[in-house]
Amino acid sequence: MGKGSGFGKTILFGEHFVVYGLPALASAIGDSTDAEVKITEGRGYNLIDDRPEVPGYKEKKFDEQKISIKNIIDYMGVDLERKHLDITLGGNLTCASGVGASAASCVALARAINDELNLGWDDHKINEAAYEGEKGYHGTPSGIDNTASTFGGLVYFVKNLEGGSNTMETIKVAKPVEMVIASSGMTANTSVVVADVRKKKEENPDWFDKIIKEYQDVMKEARQALDEMDLERVGQLMNKNHGLLQQITVSNEKLDKMVKIARKAGALGAKVTGTGRGGNINCLTPGAELQDKVYKSLTNAGFPAWKTKIGV
Ligand code: MEV
Repeated sequence: MGKGSGFGKTILFGEHFVVYGLPALASAIGDSTDAEVKITEGRGYNLIDDRPEVPGYKEKKFDEQKISIKNIIDYMGVDLERKHLDITLGGNLTCASGVGASAASCVALARAINDELNLGWDDHKINEAAYEGEKGYHGTPSGIDNTASTFGGLVYFVKNLEGGSNTMETIKVAKPVEMVIASSGMTANTSVVVADVRKKKEENPDWFDKIIKEYQDVMKEARQALDEMDLERVGQLMNKNHGLLQQITVSNEKLDKMVKIARKAGALGAKVTGTGRGGNINCLTPGAELQDKVYKSLTNAGFPAWKTKIGV
């Protein structure tokens, strides 16, 4: 029996902008997806998906998941005409849009196949296999989700639009910082949202260029603020990033309401994270006390939330 796991992730800066080759910053979170794989003689595969989920997530993603699993199996050289895979997914990462659930399952599956077949693949190869799997979920992923999910920690990522290797730098922070992630309960389709943003960009390039310039300043300052552990500033910049995500139409009324609740409870910053138009927000809440206050405000308002830390 081969085993593997992949971290969930949260994007602190740069979802959507990362697709156009701009730098972004993501962090792995403590929760992860686990996979077990048993390979025997036979054909095809059987999947038991025991991952916890926000209602409806797995059903909505089922067709994409089938393509994703096949992509990974093919990429790893397993012939489904001659081999049968029993795959079980589990772990404590609650599947929802915005926490890197698809990437975490791709990484976990690639690691479990690697383990079962003793392929000896390193993290870079696992990341490549997971990227193939991510294509099943969103056509042309930037690769930031599988990278954070594979390597863990805080990751500065720039997609290479020419097709060469992406830039990936692990960032160290002086000490881990508490965060709260909260779910809108709405499952978004990443391909659809990314394609819609691209359409808007193509229809109005001057408008989009202006937003991109603002984003570049946000990201540049955010890196410096994180280096200096100026968390007040990091939070303000997350709020600015949220404003830009509102402009490119990936926030919605519910997400804006959640962001407001979190900020009112004292979060230094709160923003949409990941695809948007559903999924999650993330909130910067240094210190256990502030984290608990923001967590309670969101859960009391009916939004499921998780406490986590970045930079661990
Ligand atoms: C999804 O978690 C992040 C997006 O930027 C898409 C991508 O990077 O592939 C929306």
